[in-house]
Amino acid sequence: MKFDIYLNKIFCGDALEILKTLPDEFVDLGITSPPYNKGENKKGWLVKNIKYAGAVDNLPEEEYQRIQVEVLDELYRIIKPGGSFFYNHKLRWERGIMIHPMDWLRKTKWVIRQEIIWDRGIAGNIRGWRFWQVDERIYWLYKPKGNNLIGEELKSKHALLTSIWRLPPETENPHPAPFPIELPTRIIYSLLDDRKGIVIDPYCGSGTTLVAAKLLGHDYIGIDISKEYVLYAEKRLKECEKEKKRVLEELSKHNVKETFRERKEKGKYTGPYAPQKQRGKLF
Ligand SMILES: C[S@@+](CC[C@H](N)C(=O)[O-])C[C@H]1O[C@@H](n2cnc3c(N)ncnc32)[C@H](O)[C@@H]1O
Repeated sequence: MKFDIYLNKIFCGDALEILKTLPDEFVDLGITSPPYNKGENKKGWLVKNIKYAGAVDNLPEEEYQRIQVEVLDELYRIIKPGGSFFYNHKLRWERGIMIHPMDWLRKTKWVIRQEIIWDRGIAGNIRGWRFWQVDERIYWLYKPKGNNLIGEELKSKHALLTSIWRLPPETENPHPAPFPIELPTRIIYSLLDDRKGIVIDPYCGSGTTLVAAKLLGHDYIGIDISKEYVLYAEKRLKECEKEKKRVLEELSKHNVKETFRERKEKGKYTGPYAPQKQRGKLF
């Protein structure tokens, strides 16, 4: 295939520079968690500040946001119309002022299709200036096909998983900020279902997105600036069968007894906050 030379590889280098070398509109889906530009502010942190092996995470905020917009727009170029990109980030504060990912996401070419709350159930900073921040955000960004800004419907078995994802942070990985493998598995399975596709992660770190893609039968492309993480991700990919059990457990959650249409026809509610007498009828 024409794009084979790019597939099932991890490129070691700067995400923006490498993305610029990739062709237009050949990737189906992307997922990433970029460095968060968390700076050196250590006040109140219970856990050690995240430090990456090959990159500083301390740019002037304006420059950081400008680079993120450029990276996201390059991804828009290489992803097919009708394709999606899932972007994990969080709310940050600098000297009391909130910095929200929407501040720069609205400057990109992407249509913002959904904001998902990732409830990690644990807070790194446990001082009381605010309620403990246990959430991160995952933005589902969509590249329209023609004039259709909405795109295809998810199958019921995927959409039932709701817009709040309760997934604890990863603990069995030496990388300082990895995803739990359930997170990219959920995204890839929901979006591609049984279609084979190409999945990209431009800040792939320990390769979690790539391992999930490989185990689900897709091609992948990874980028990371750290040689150390690239080597670790390559080793993980070779031994990926070890992680299959967790991937299968996530897939088992994508299961409905009744489709949306059937529930609607029977007048059933769709969530846990339904009136008491209706609750037993769910799913
Ligand atoms: C939040 S981590 C991603 C972790 C990944 N999701 C995983 O599960 O392991 C961000 C990654 O971005 C990488 N990085 C930082 N600056 C980069 C750049 N300019 N280009 C490419 N990668 C970069 C870091 O080395 C780090 O591995």
